[in-house]
Amino acid sequence: MPRIALIPGDGIGVEVVRQARKVLSCVGEVERIPLDLVQWDLGAEQYLARGVAVTDAEMRELETGYDALLLGALGDPRVPDNAHAREILLGMRFRFDLYVNLRPVRLMDPSFSPLRTVAPEDVDIVIFRENTEGVYVGLGGLFKRGTPDEVAIEEDVNTRKGVERIVRAAFEYARAAGRRRVTLADKANAMQFAGGLYRRVFAEVGEEYADIEREAIYVDALALDMVLHPARYDVIVASNLFGDILSDLAAALVGGLGLAPSANLHPGKPGLFEPVHGSAPDIAGLDRANPLAAILTAALMLEQLGYAQAAARIEAAVRATIRQGKTTPDLGGTLGTEAVGDWVCTALRDVAP
Ligand SMILES: NC(=O)c1ccc[n+]([C@@H]2O[C@H](COP(=O)([O-])OP(=O)(O)OC[C@H]3O[C@@H](n4cnc5c(N)ncnc54)[C@H](O)[C@@H]3O)[C@@H](O)[C@H]2O)c1
Repeated sequence: MPRIALIPGDGIGVEVVRQARKVLSCVGEVERIPLDLVQWDLGAEQYLARGVAVTDAEMRELETGYDALLLGALGDPRVPDNAHAREILLGMRFRFDLYVNLRPVRLMDPSFSPLRTVAPEDVDIVIFRENTEGVYVGLGGLFKRGTPDEVAIEEDVNTRKGVERIVRAAFEYARAAGRRRVTLADKANAMQFAGGLYRRVFAEVGEEYADIEREAIYVDALALDMVLHPARYDVIVASNLFGDILSDLAAALVGGLGLAPSANLHPGKPGLFEPVHGSAPDIAGLDRANPLAAILTAALMLEQLGYAQAAARIEAAVRATIRQGKTTPDLGGTLGTEAVGDWVCTALRDVAP
């Protein structure tokens, strides 16, 4: 029986994870999958009460005692430097070495896209963002700070091992999911060392996947073309920085934060699954948060745990809920968080996955 830690976190994280839990219980019943759902109350409240966000023993238990972790969001105005979020999120990312940031982007309804003429099948992109290195490692420094001669250096760290494993993960996924093409986004014309490494590894690893088409595109050209011709793109692999930017652009193509799921993965380790949005303090506690991103995140988690049919059933139920206009105000509806969760549960029983 898969053991899943539910970590609601802060703000609307608590509200949306409650709905994700409800949907997981419903789909478990319908698909006859026993799920062991265990709630973990980590977040700003606990950090403020005990001075530590997550202990070493808790991290160890999460790493060894669970198959997957589902997190709502972390962020609270009472912790302005977000120290607790860093401790928990970066702690897990580095401790479990979660090198894949997976961001699937599917258009649920054409009316949610800012593009004028787009059909749901036109936007179905899966982005593999490198999650442990690149320009986000924090190596660098300031020189002559605060003077007119100030210098800021931010190093871009890319290892052969790091590049190879994210590229391989993208090709492996493409093959397993029956996808036709993997696109590498880089900037090899201006960033020749990192870009060169990515291009060489992409070509070498790609040779092993002769059944999958491959192409390398400069990230600026890709950003432009994703808006003009989203249907051209299937699986995209990119470094930490480029993947970060492209996945937000892709999320905007399908309706933004309320519908965007994500996963942080390392095969063999428990994956960390989270909706892309934050804790939204401006609407926390008002029953206005859209729970669909968290519910789609639960579907992504089930898919990764090997329950593809249950995941497809949740997605179909979300589509049905949207089709009937049973949404929160951010998607044009009038329902509250709880009511949308209820609609998804009802739809689950009727839809064919
Ligand atoms: N992974 C995470 O846990 C994560 C990610 C992003 C931001 N944060 C944290 O969240 C806090 C707020 O950050 P922010 O305001 O920049 O980003 P945010 O995603 O929380 O909110 C941005 C805007 O989108 C709206 N929004 C977000 N999710 C929504 C949902 N599900 N339904 C309806 N509307 C939604 C909010 O009301 C707000 O107006 C900060 O403390 C930030 O650090 C956490």
